[in-house]
Amino acid sequence: MTTLPRLLTALAVVATILTACPSPEPVPVEPSAEDLKSDFVSAMHGRRDGVRSIHDAIVAGTLPEAREAGRTLARVEVDTALPETWAVMNTELEFAVKGITEAVDLNAAAADAAVTVGTCGSCHRAAGAQLQFEPLPHPDRTEDGSRHHMVRHQVAARALWQAVVSNSDEHWNNGLTWLAAGPVEQSEFPEHVVLDDRAREFEALVHGIAAEGHGVTDPKARVTLYGRLIAVCAGCHAHTQGGPASVPSAP
Ligand code: HEC
Ligand code: HEC
Repeated sequence: MTTLPRLLTALAVVATILTACPSPEPVPVEPSAEDLKSDFVSAMHGRRDGVRSIHDAIVAGTLPEAREAGRTLARVEVDTALPETWAVMNTELEFAVKGITEAVDLNAAAADAAVTVGTCGSCHRAAGAQLQFEPLPHPDRTEDGSRHHMVRHQVAARALWQAVVSNSDEHWNNGLTWLAAGPVEQSEFPEHVVLDDRAREFEALVHGIAAEGHGVTDPKARVTLYGRLIAVCAGCHAHTQGGPASVPSAP
């Protein structure tokens, strides 16, 4: 992996500049390159958790939670001095996250969330960073009676944001394959959920996006598809008053 040495070189340059400037004030001990590197990785973990919460809140169709998760992500600061090309992407990221915190509806939040994960992916590409995510449970092993279809959607949608953040073709293709499983049946939902025409339209949109995404390798096109997808998940959950927010979590 080339990223670590490159980051450390950038940090070492900063450290040299800092030590080269004599100051009459007693200066606190400068953090070592190792400390800065571990701060940077912690910030990345904070960002990963932040993006996951935003994704989950939008999928659930809960705008206030999505905005709040955006505020939490905005508070994750990268204090390390960044090479200029990375700093530009970092600013783009901050701008998109601000958009989530101010989103007027779920479609707007979904679009800004997609741009956010897109900037994560751009910087990782520029930096040659190789990201490893925890392996996702294979959806066929999460069979859970009537909710099987939704659990598949859930795992699929997670694979897609991870694909965009980490530029992984494998996650992208897995996500699309898992998403395409269907069709959804009324019998998969509790009685109070009515799978009416509108709900079926949303479901058809999910399957349409899955079909459209195959073979798409352009990062920006992936970002757009991902944003459209989570807006559809959110739309159907709002329409049916269903979704993760309505399902009591397993004991
Ligand atoms: C300014 C550039 C930049 C941006 C923007 C950025 N990252 Fe990173 N990220 C990096 C670099 C560089 C590494 C590799 C660090 C290393 O060498 O270990 C990394 C590594 C990571 C890692 C792996 C950390 C580990 O355990 O080693 C995760 C997870 C991550 N980033 C998540 C994110 C998420 C999520 C976003 C967007 C919300 C994001 N990053 C935005 C540059 C960036
Ligand atoms: C046809 C409309 C519809 C679409 C489209 C839809 N959902 Fe759902 N989803 C529901 C309903 C209704 C429930 C509530 C089911 C229940 O109460 O058991 C639900 C429940 C869920 C749950 C909770 C399952 C559980 O048991 O914890 C998750 C997770 C979920 N959906 C994810 C998604 C994702 C991700 C997408 C988009 C890729 C999506 N859904 C698209 C209607 C939809």
